Amino acid sequence: MSSSKNTSFPLLTVSLFLLLPFSYSLSLTRPGSSLDPRQLTALESLGFPSTRDACAVPSPRDNATSCDAASPFRHLISLRLANCSTDLDLPYTVLQSLSTLKSISFLNCPIPPPRRLPPQLASSLHSFSCISSLRRVPGALLSPLRNLTELYLTGVPVMVSAPIMIISNMADLTSLTISNANMSGPVPHHWHCLDLVHLDFSFNRLKGVIPGTISMLGSLQTLNLSSNFLTGYIPDSIGDMVSLKNVSLSNNTFFGSIPSSLSDLIDLVQLDLSSNQFNGSIPTFFSGMKKLRVLNLENNNFQGVIPFNSSFISKLEVFKVGGNSNLCYNHTMLSSKLKLGIAPCNRYGLPMSPPGDHLRSDGSDDMDDYGEADSSHNGDGDHRGPSKVVLGVAIGLSCLVFLVIFLVCLSKVCG
Ligand SMILES: *[C@@H]1O[C@H](CO)[C@@H](O)[C@H](O)[C@H]1NC(C)=O
Ligand SMILES: *[C@@H]1O[C@H](CO)[C@@H](O)[C@H](O)[C@H]1NC(C)=O
Ligand SMILES: *[C@@H]1O[C@H](CO)[C@@H](O)[C@H](O)[C@H]1NC(C)=O
Ligand SMILES: *[C@@H]1O[C@H](CO)[C@@H](O)[C@H](O)[C@H]1NC(C)=O
Ligand SMILES: *[C@@H]1O[C@H](CO)[C@@H](O)[C@H](O)[C@H]1NC(C)=O
Ligand SMILES: *[C@@H]1O[C@H](CO)[C@@H](O)[C@H](O)[C@H]1NC(C)=O
Ligand SMILES: *[C@@H]1O[C@H](CO)[C@@H](O)[C@H](O)[C@H]1NC(C)=O
Ligand SMILES: *[C@@H]1O[C@H](CO)[C@@H](O)[C@H](O)[C@H]1NC(C)=O
Ligand SMILES: *[C@@H]1O[C@H](CO)[C@@H](O)[C@H](O)[C@H]1NC(C)=O
Ligand SMILES: *[C@@H]1O[C@H](CO)[C@@H](O)[C@H](O)[C@H]1NC(C)=O
Repeated sequence: MSSSKNTSFPLLTVSLFLLLPFSYSLSLTRPGSSLDPRQLTALESLGFPSTRDACAVPSPRDNATSCDAASPFRHLISLRLANCSTDLDLPYTVLQSLSTLKSISFLNCPIPPPRRLPPQLASSLHSFSCISSLRRVPGALLSPLRNLTELYLTGVPVMVSAPIMIISNMADLTSLTISNANMSGPVPHHWHCLDLVHLDFSFNRLKGVIPGTISMLGSLQTLNLSSNFLTGYIPDSIGDMVSLKNVSLSNNTFFGSIPSSLSDLIDLVQLDLSSNQFNGSIPTFFSGMKKLRVLNLENNNFQGVIPFNSSFISKLEVFKVGGNSNLCYNHTMLSSKLKLGIAPCNRYGLPMSPPGDHLRSDGSDDMDDYGEADSSHNGDGDHRGPSKVVLGVAIGLSCLVFLVIFLVCLSKVCG
């Protein structure tokens, strides 16, 4: 113990002596800052003002940086580069000195992407976010980020042949957004990140079907596959994903009917199946979903009578069923004032024809008459509704005229 102390003592004094002037000048020019000097230099090279304390709370530039509490020097744990100039450079050496970062994000920074990240930084990062930045993101930049819990990419093309190329090593992901990223390939068949809560692959070029194995993601709350080139049926296994809250499959070419297993998703808040080729009838079970707020089924091939009453529909924030030419509503249960964009049903549960012309020409009042006319007369074909209205008005008017004449005669007789 004492011998080792003897040998290390001079070394310690030498190193202290060497460090002193440096730390002195540091505290002189940047009072209060105790950020690792190498990281301070790195920040300066990224255009952060050297006069500001990057570890202050709240930090400058909208929390662009935050630090740990280590001593003698603190270290950066998060960094956000926002609105940077296009000639900003992100050299490997600077990235190396930032290897303590747990979170990095780029916002409107169209700088060239680094080819790869230093291994230490890659394993340190828990969150990577790129919004309209880095021009294009190579798969090789992302796939080594094994410890990510959050990956957020939007408004930047990712250069991979399929999403699995990016996420196959990421077992800890809980939030995954790769949206508006020109991403092609299939929806993964196998998932390593079984704790995923949020999945958004919207606005890409994904092809193929949703594999039944998606139900491996038992904790998933958000599933957004909207605006891709996906097709096929909704897998029955979706009923196993009982945590699902917000689901959008809109703007693809899915077909088939809504699986009955969907009724198991009792926490569903939002369901958007719009702009696909779904068919079959609309299931009644939606009205039993207490938390449902958004139900968008427009622009599909659904058919039959809408199975909901107006108290259910009025509890929803969004209810859209327009653009389903074989779908209709029961006018004794639902008012035309709901403006559902579809025709009322005849007594066979088929849309009254021609629905389109009447919807467009005279609006809801005409629809009301249209509906009432059919319910009060159970006679001929439904397309004669409007002429019945004219007839009714004519009969009413002539009754009135007769009544007036009768009253006039009566008053003459009596008078
Ligand atoms: C900065 O961080 C503080 C503390 O975490 C927070 O209260 C504040 O809202 C943040 N400000 C911005 C602009 O993000
Ligand atoms: C980036 O620029 C936009 C406007 O160009 C501004 O609204 C926004 O606050 C800026 N963000 C940051 C973090 O500087
Ligand atoms: C990253 O994950 C590996 C296991 O995959 C683990 O050994 C390592 O400690 C993690 N690194 C950090 C910085 O969390
Ligand atoms: C998007 O991907 C397609 C091929 O899948 C490619 O031809 C096109 O150039 C890409 N667009 C951008 C902006 O990267
Ligand atoms: C539907 O998807 C296509 C292809 O991805 C896209 O170009 C279009 O903007 C999307 N439309 C809407 C309304 O989201
Ligand atoms: C899905 O993504 C689209 C486009 O990114 C967005 O407009 C929509 O609100 C999202 N829907 C859900 C349910 O997350
Ligand atoms: C689901 O969508 C609602 C809006 O309809 C939103 O308030 C809520 O935060 C979303 N939930 C999730 C888990 O995305
Ligand atoms: C729905 O579409 C599928 C596939 O296109 C078809 O096989 C099925 O018969 C259709 N069902 C109804 C009720 O039209
Ligand atoms: C409307 O439908 C819901 C669900 O089916 C039901 O609980 C409720 O009693 C109905 N309300 C009326 C006024 O019929
Ligand atoms: C419309 O609703 C009424 C009352 O619930 C019912 O008697 C009638 O059969 C329904 N009509 C159709 C076409 O479903």
